[in-house]
Amino acid sequence: MLGDFMYCSPVRVYFGRKCMRRLSRELAPYKSVLLIYGTGSIKKNGIYDQIREILDLSGCRVREFAGVRPNPDRDCLYRAVSAAREFHPDLILAAGGGSVCDLAKAVSVSIYCREDPWQRYYLQMKKPDCPVVPVGCIPTTAGTGSEMNGCAVISDPERQLKIGHVFGDDVYPRFALINPAYTLTLNRQQTACGIFDIMTHLCEQYFSGKDDCATDYMIEGLMRSLINSSRAVMADPSDYEARSNIMWISSIALSTLLSKGKKTDWMLHMVAQAVGACTDAAHGSTLSALAMPYYRFIYSAGIGRFVRFAVNVWGIRTDQVIYPGADLYEGNEKMPDAEELARRGLDCMEQWMKELGLVMSLSQLGVTEDMYPDILRGIKITKGGYRRLTKDDVIRLLKAAD
Ligand code: NZQ
Ligand code: ZN
Repeated sequence: MLGDFMYCSPVRVYFGRKCMRRLSRELAPYKSVLLIYGTGSIKKNGIYDQIREILDLSGCRVREFAGVRPNPDRDCLYRAVSAAREFHPDLILAAGGGSVCDLAKAVSVSIYCREDPWQRYYLQMKKPDCPVVPVGCIPTTAGTGSEMNGCAVISDPERQLKIGHVFGDDVYPRFALINPAYTLTLNRQQTACGIFDIMTHLCEQYFSGKDDCATDYMIEGLMRSLINSSRAVMADPSDYEARSNIMWISSIALSTLLSKGKKTDWMLHMVAQAVGACTDAAHGSTLSALAMPYYRFIYSAGIGRFVRFAVNVWGIRTDQVIYPGADLYEGNEKMPDAEELARRGLDCMEQWMKELGLVMSLSQLGVTEDMYPDILRGIKITKGGYRRLTKDDVIRLLKAAD
């Protein structure tokens, strides 16, 4: 059963090849724009020139903050905030992947913050109590969904912390220009990492609860489309149709639409973020290294949903008429071979991950046992999933993922 909720996306989304045409209209209310971007990809693939031309014609004052690295850290946040404080932008425009979009949102709540923003928003998890500067996003990756949510993930490499703060509606981007063609220049590994990030965002919202909930059927459809388009894009990286499906699924998956009125898990992300804090590895790789051991660790506690995953997402069929509703209803825990079906679904997922060429173990990311205490320290245990992990469980999980 869906619980009560309020839903309103504050993000105006323009999607497709021509969406950049909307930028000049979106800039109209603003006089000064801080353009934030990464370490060079938008200059190589021409996106920067397109944006700069529109900005120059807009009559806005423009300042750039460039060089945002993947997994943006506290120091990058401080530098961007001090550049922004000198310039007083009334719009922050982010052009890049999740790292750039996240940094832009973190800056938006920090410019007028009277305290140290890292302390306030990330260590103390307080809400902003100051004006928030509007943000617009031009995503160039498909994966995080940052362009349609209020989350901003920032790291502190010295203390090995990577923390996501989910801010409120006022921090969501005001607009997002989502052009799937911008993802055509991602390499195979970046593409695969993004696809798997999307899959886990869907999984974290799907593997929770035992009730009949419309959202879970929506998630199954998105998972099937993602798997289909991921195979198409791996076969032909220039496949715009596949890229467009992946990009839209990415945006919806973490827009909060799929978590409204239902329980969610997020434990995989909690452990992956802690691993990311200790390794600086790509977010998608930290998830792929942990996912199979995690789901194999918890599936028996949510067996009905994992059977459904096998049947509805991976298309595994069974001859036994004893549970004709296996693809429709939960509560099939007593099925004779429920375990077997659930395991086969997970085997399909593992096979697909290998097809994508994803990292499948923590040792590939340089994780060693002496890092476990730091990883454990950075983990927040969530309670929405099928199994609430203890610290010992996390150690077992890390060892299984080694
Ligand atoms: O720095 P540039 O030159 O832009 O290069 C980037 C970077 O090296 C490159 N890239 C981006 N777009 C490209 C491109 N290369 C070629 N063509 C393009 N079109 O890709 C590399 C990775 O970029 P990054 O932004 O780090 O990747 P991603 O989009 O995966 O973002 C990862 C960050 O988002 C956080 C992650 O933790 C991580 O810090 N997340 C944010 C979330 C959110 N806001 O809701 C949720 C996620 O679960 C995640 O935690
Ligand atoms: Zn993620």
